Amino acid sequence: MNKEVKLLREDGLRLDGRRYDELRPIKIEAGVLNRADGSAYLEWGSNKVLAAIYGPRELHPRHMQNSMKAIVRCKYSMASFSVPDRKRPGPDRRSTEISKVIGEALESVIFTEQFPRTVVDVFIEVFQADAGTRVAGLTAASVALADAGVPMKALITACAAGKVEDTVVLDLGKLEDNAGQADLPMAIIPTTGEIVLMQMDGHLTPAEFRKARDMAVNACYQIYEMQKDALKRRYAAE
Ligand code: CDP
Repeated sequence: MNKEVKLLREDGLRLDGRRYDELRPIKIEAGVLNRADGSAYLEWGSNKVLAAIYGPRELHPRHMQNSMKAIVRCKYSMASFSVPDRKRPGPDRRSTEISKVIGEALESVIFTEQFPRTVVDVFIEVFQADAGTRVAGLTAASVALADAGVPMKALITACAAGKVEDTVVLDLGKLEDNAGQADLPMAIIPTTGEIVLMQMDGHLTPAEFRKARDMAVNACYQIYEMQKDALKRRYAAE
């Protein structure tokens, strides 16, 4: 932890003026791309993320097909201009890991057995990053899948909580993520409460972990309403 940076103010708020359990502002718009089967654009604080879905469509080369179910292929990428130090374009260890965990979470809600031999491609493009891009990307991708009409049992909603200056707080911003003590990105299926993604960076005591988990899950229910609202607006407009 970087002791130089003071992240919590004397008045009980955070540096950006948020309460400990307050989300950054979130905006979601579904169906923003004409040539994708489904899409969603999401702004979450300073994060700007686009998700696009192509498929289910026949998978080539054929030897990669699964005769029992569809394959869900996820590609998370960050634009080189999305972070303060230019990011080298192309995949790296971090984006490979994020693509894997997001893809597995999405696969858990898609009825893949209805589409054997096909692929569902999920592209997540981060144009501006300010911590929490994996939860932003997953939240957007879930809306984009619903927009594409891919049969799925439910939406997935994601949010992180963490620890700064020995205090559990919701939805860490970049400064809090860098100088803080822990980050706990999570994703749930809001209709069942099932956890489909959980990662942890840093250290939390068991009590802090339970508090951070509950904070993130509660916030997921707020974000879930925004996801449904984005889909309703999309289809009300037609
Ligand atoms: O974005 P997320 O919190 O899911 O993942 P992270 O690996 O914890 O990264 C936290 C933040 O670090 C990102 O959101 C970016 O703002 C920043 N970052 C960066 O500045 N340069 C990179 N090459 C990767 C991440």
